[in-house]
Amino acid sequence: MAKSYKIAVIPGDGTGPEVTAEAVKVLNAAAGKFGFKLDMTSFDFGGERYKRTGETLPDSAIEELRKFDSILLGAIGHPDVKPGILEKGILLKARFELDQYINLRPVRLYPGVETPIKGKGPDDIDFVVVRENTGDLYTGTGGFTMKGTPQEVAVQSAVYTRFQVDRCLKYAFEYTKKYGKKARGKGQNNTLALSGKTNVLTYVYDLWERAFHEMGQKQYPDIKREYYHVDATCMWFVKNPEWFDVIVTGNMFGDIITDLGAMIQGGMGIAAGGNINPEGVSMFEPIGGSAPKYTGQGVINPLAAICAGSMMLETLGEQKAATKIEDAVKFVTANKLKSLAAGKMGYSTSQVGDLVAGELAK
Ligand code: IPM
Ligand code: MN
Repeated sequence: MAKSYKIAVIPGDGTGPEVTAEAVKVLNAAAGKFGFKLDMTSFDFGGERYKRTGETLPDSAIEELRKFDSILLGAIGHPDVKPGILEKGILLKARFELDQYINLRPVRLYPGVETPIKGKGPDDIDFVVVRENTGDLYTGTGGFTMKGTPQEVAVQSAVYTRFQVDRCLKYAFEYTKKYGKKARGKGQNNTLALSGKTNVLTYVYDLWERAFHEMGQKQYPDIKREYYHVDATCMWFVKNPEWFDVIVTGNMFGDIITDLGAMIQGGMGIAAGGNINPEGVSMFEPIGGSAPKYTGQGVINPLAAICAGSMMLETLGEQKAATKIEDAVKFVTANKLKSLAAGKMGYSTSQVGDLVAGELAK
C-alpha cells in the first residue's frame, strides 16, 4: 500500500493562504509522481480567528497537532492585531509546545536569482543556518519593576541549559556530517561554524563554545570547527559568503542572521525554514511574513512556501520527491521568472505554482 502522511495545514493570515495553496498544489503533484499520499487537514488559526473568538492556538489544538506527521504553515500576522499576540500565541507557542528545537534555514542562491552581493553566484551562496529554537531571549524570562515610573527597570534574560545546547549541537554536527560541503562533493571539508558573542555574552556563549568543542573533539573529529562572533558573521555573509557551510547559533542571533541570509539568497520570496523536532512533529514555513498589503492580488511569490514543502518531504523521508521539487524550483528561477519580488515575477502566484508543478511532472 502507498505510504500516507497526515499533514496539518495552517494557511494563516494575509498572503499566507495564497502561497500555501501553491505549496499544496506542488506537494500533491510530487505525491502523485513518487507514489505516496498526503492526507491534509486545514486549520484556521490566525488573525481572523483571533478577532472572531479571541483564540490563538488553544491547548486542545496543540494536542490535535501532535497527531500529525507534519505541519505546513503559511504566515502569521494581521494588521488589526497588536504585534506579539499572534506571534507568541501561535508561532512561538507551536515551536515551544511541540518542542521544535531546531530552526533549519538554508541560504541558497538558486540559478537566475539576483543577489545584492556583487560578483557572487550560486556556488558562493550555499550554506545552512541551524538556529536553536526554544531558548535564549525567547523564553520570556524577565519582567518589569517600577513600570511606568522614571525608575522603571526592564529585564529580559538570554537563558540556555546545557541540555538545550547539546541537543542543538548534536543535530548540527549530524546535519553537517550528512549534508556538509564535503558530503555534497562541494568542498574539502564538512565545516560547522558556531556563531556567538563570547567577548560580551561571557556566560551564555561560553557555555555554547565549551559544549561545541567538547562534542566536536570527542564525537566528530572529522568535522572542521570554526567560530565567528555574530557581528562578524554578518560582515562575512556579505563579503565572503562562500566561507560558510553549516552555522549553528542561538535563537536570537539565528533570527537576525537568517533575515540577512534571506536577502542574500534573493529575498523573502524564496527563503524557507523548518521548525524541527527530530523526535516529534515538525512545522515548515516560508520565513517571510504575511505581507498583508498584497493579500488577494495573486502577486506574491509562492516559491518560499513551495521550498518549505520540499523541506517537509525531506524530513518525512521522501528525499527523492524533495529534491525533485527543489530542482523544479531551480528550473523556474533560472528559466521563467523575471524577478522574485511580489508583482514583478512576470507570472501570477498560481501560475508560478503551475510552472513548478508542470516541471515536476516531467
Ligand atoms: C521568524 C520570525 C519570528 C521569530 C517572529 C514572528 C516571532 O521573525 O520566524 O524568524 O522571531 O522567530
Ligand atoms: Mn525572524
